[in-house]
Amino acid sequence: MELPRGKSYIRLDQVNQEDIDKLILRVNSCTWRQTFHIQPVSGLLNDPNGFCFYNGEYHLYYQWHPLGPFHGLKYWYHTKSTDLVNWTNVGIAIKPDEYFDSHGAYSGSAVEHNGNLYLLYTGNTRDENLERHPYLCIALMDDDGNIIKSKKSVLDKVPEGYTEHFRDPKLWKEDEKFYAVIGAQRTDKTGGVCLLSSSDLLEWKFEGELATNLDDFGFMWECPDYFEMEDKGILIFSPQGLEPVGDLYQNIYQAGYVVGEKIDLQRRELTHGDFIELDRGFDFYAPQTMKDPNGRRLMVAWMGLPEIEYPSDINGWANCLTILRELSLHDGKLIQKPVPELQSLRKNKIEAQDEIWDEKKTYEGFSGITYELVCEFEQGDALEYGIEIRAGSEEKTVIKYDAVQGKIILDRTFSGKVIGSKYGTERKCQIVGDAHKFHLFVDSSSVEIFVDDGEEVFTARIFPDIRSQEIRFYATGGSAAFKAVKWDY
Ligand code: FRU
Repeated sequence: MELPRGKSYIRLDQVNQEDIDKLILRVNSCTWRQTFHIQPVSGLLNDPNGFCFYNGEYHLYYQWHPLGPFHGLKYWYHTKSTDLVNWTNVGIAIKPDEYFDSHGAYSGSAVEHNGNLYLLYTGNTRDENLERHPYLCIALMDDDGNIIKSKKSVLDKVPEGYTEHFRDPKLWKEDEKFYAVIGAQRTDKTGGVCLLSSSDLLEWKFEGELATNLDDFGFMWECPDYFEMEDKGILIFSPQGLEPVGDLYQNIYQAGYVVGEKIDLQRRELTHGDFIELDRGFDFYAPQTMKDPNGRRLMVAWMGLPEIEYPSDINGWANCLTILRELSLHDGKLIQKPVPELQSLRKNKIEAQDEIWDEKKTYEGFSGITYELVCEFEQGDALEYGIEIRAGSEEKTVIKYDAVQGKIILDRTFSGKVIGSKYGTERKCQIVGDAHKFHLFVDSSSVEIFVDDGEEVFTARIFPDIRSQEIRFYATGGSAAFKAVKWDY
């Protein structure tokens, strides 16, 4: 059988190896292939799944459709690492080949128990009328890396009061018991999160909905994640169906969190503050976290969004994961920092320092396609200052501070091939103060910008011409002094 040209549920073992080899050749010839981000060998990647530390290594799985850049039959693909920087492609972890996951091994999470790793995931199935029937499924990975799927699902009916959009369990262990939050849609078509519990990971009990104060907040909450930090309870989720409000909720779907008191498991209640978006950029969704052996809370996300086409599609692949970020809590807000392990990629350090006045300047050595750049601007009287990256005669991607609006702005209007233009080409957020630090991680087709040591993060895929490599610093309407350091990656 030939490779599908659009969404289909064709399995990998149904197509010709020759066609797959051709697809991989096409993928590998793409100049937008990433160099330090996790990306699929072919086809489409979406949510990170099962992120954990087990048996001396970090394991990170992801949603994978191998046969092309669309959301077809999903597998769990397995990668692992000892340093969070260099990831080994292990191969397929969960195949959708049972009645309970016939239309996709959808998202889920992992927890260690009795020396094995348990993977709790969503079995997606569709009946002859294409109606979805989700199952909750379990698989086990032993310390040799063998994966065994349970022959039966652990929950085969959506509980009363919810629709077929019931998926993405995120596990944790507390007081010798296992719990999971799971994304749900109520029958009144609003989103929420439910709570499940188990004493052995094999028998699961539906506890009920987790009460929050967001009763009417979008039509579905995907990929919830719950953890505790500094005596607070944090619920991350990806709500669908929020209308834009000012600079907020500009992407097709959102990803964010609420901070509150620790979850009250008896009353199934989370008292919490406002929903806060995790990322201010264009391409960030379905984040998942884990606590590593050093006690750090690490987060990774899909650097992409559902229902958006990406320019690499013509080369037979789409999407990647973000770099790993460490989370901490300050004044009720999550601060995100790139993991320090990434510094092992640094090569060829160069520096520049200057005061610019109503001008745009470039500096020796400041150019490239894959690099880390830290730039600290001092307070000056410029109306606007910023950096243009991947710049050429017609292209540029701009991160700037607009002093008049008091906002940080990421502008990808001229970033090259257009992505999701319906949703606009600028992202903004209000920020306090006039002196700002931009910490950029630039890969062949993405940029992740940590502003003011992780107060805000802007993540975006960009698809510029390979010749657009300049880095330019500018100030308009006044002066701005800055110090910049760059390392090639
Ligand atoms: C989020 C999502 C999940 C689902 C998975 C399928 O992007 O839609 O809700 O489990 O992707 O790939």
